[in-house]
Amino acid sequence: MADKLKIVLGTSNPHKVFEINEIAKDYNVEFILPDCNNFDPDENGLTFEENAEIKAKEASRVSKNGNYFMADDSGLCVDYLKGGPGIHSARYDTTPEKRIEKLLDALKDDNKRTAHFVCALCLCDKEGKVLHREKGIVEGKIAYSKKGSNGFGYDPVFLVENGNRTMAELTEKEKNTLSHRGRALKSMLEWLKVNFKI
Ligand code: IMP
Repeated sequence: MADKLKIVLGTSNPHKVFEINEIAKDYNVEFILPDCNNFDPDENGLTFEENAEIKAKEASRVSKNGNYFMADDSGLCVDYLKGGPGIHSARYDTTPEKRIEKLLDALKDDNKRTAHFVCALCLCDKEGKVLHREKGIVEGKIAYSKKGSNGFGYDPVFLVENGNRTMAELTEKEKNTLSHRGRALKSMLEWLKVNFKI
């Protein structure tokens, strides 16, 4: 079998690399961390797509350990909040707990609780040229209170599918099958399969 295609992931989070490699384990590809000390680009884009591109290009600029670079940007968009917190999801408040409380508070008097998670992916080469983009979405609703202990971020208040379970009540495998990140990544892997024979 040919050597695995190595793709540098524009992140400083080893857990994200682990998770993505889990989803990609049936493909001949390996995602690796950038070989720089502190990967922390200024995410000043106005959309998920722009931020994913900023991170992928920054990885290609600072990291010398690969030929291909990919980054993701994701967040929660709540209809009642006109798409917020959106690209500001990670900075909506200071801790994950406070972010959830602030969200539940903002929706307190409202019954329209529809929302979706978005994940944008961008792949570029070592010159920083964008080769491909993908986007994954999962629709759901914001629960009235927290449920479940798996996952991270807004998972305990995001009701998926028929609204019976929150994302935090799904197993990792279930979440990967239907999540915004899982969907975007699956499409990216299929594109790589055709174009890079992974
Ligand atoms: P990042 O783009 O992966 O850094 O995610 C930005 C922020 O969006 C995270 O800090 C979370 O608050 C939120 N987020 C993204 N994906 C998820 C998810 O799968 N579950 C819960 N929250 C998420």
